[in-house]
Amino acid sequence: MTLWHHGVVKILAFLSQKGSSGKTTLAVHTAVAAHEAGLRVVLIDTDPQQSASVWADAREAAEPIVATASAGDVARVVAAAEADGMDLVILDTAPHATPDAARLARQADLVAIPCRPTAFDLAAAQAGATIVKAAGAKGVFVLSACPFRAPEIAETQAALAAYGLPVAPMAITDRRAFARAIASGRAVTEFEDDGKAASEIRSLWTYLQEQMQ
Ligand SMILES: Nc1ncnc2c1ncn2[C@@H]1O[C@H](COP(=O)(O)OP(=O)(O)OP(=O)(O)O)[C@@H](O)[C@H]1O
Ligand SMILES: [Mg+2]
Repeated sequence: MTLWHHGVVKILAFLSQKGSSGKTTLAVHTAVAAHEAGLRVVLIDTDPQQSASVWADAREAAEPIVATASAGDVARVVAAAEADGMDLVILDTAPHATPDAARLARQADLVAIPCRPTAFDLAAAQAGATIVKAAGAKGVFVLSACPFRAPEIAETQAALAAYGLPVAPMAITDRRAFARAIASGRAVTEFEDDGKAASEIRSLWTYLQEQMQ
């Protein structure tokens, strides 16, 4: 268990120009994992598509708190979260390379760039890394929705490593449980706590938390 300083809010952003790379899936699951680990968490949905908010609407549990805000309003919501004693803000973002992406990256303590093991995602991941580096932010790649045991996983990990940001050592597998969880307003750790999907998410959260220390 790593030490987390209460009273100082950390900001973790999921960012990628590629649609469907897994930003919302990882943002909501990480938010629940961090909440389950004892942190007070606010998930801010900055995507006009509002996928995370749809998840929140389907959800019965009150935490993590989910708020919507435009990229320009994030700083204000973060300040309010800090005043309320929140520990962690997670940002879900829209799949566009607008100035918003750079603005959000600059505010984040860590930017996680999800990437499926496909050529299209790789190109977008490189663009994401460029934004993160230009913003002077800390970033990591996260392998997302990987087919079970596919050789593309190792190939993608190697390709990503060449883009100059660390690659999370654990890959998130393409599992029905993730999509089912989203559809029902829950997280995999909530309905299949001993399942493989839950264990992947907990392991990812541990890694991301370490990167934010
Ligand atoms: N690990 C996974 N296993 C199974 N399905 C997944 C996984 N990750 C994402 N998906 C599915 O892929 C689709 C896209 O995922 P998601 O909405 O998280 O991506 P996104 O990057 O937020 O997309 P957008 O850019 O449109 O906001 C969803 O239907 C989601 O359920
Ligand atoms: Mg999304």
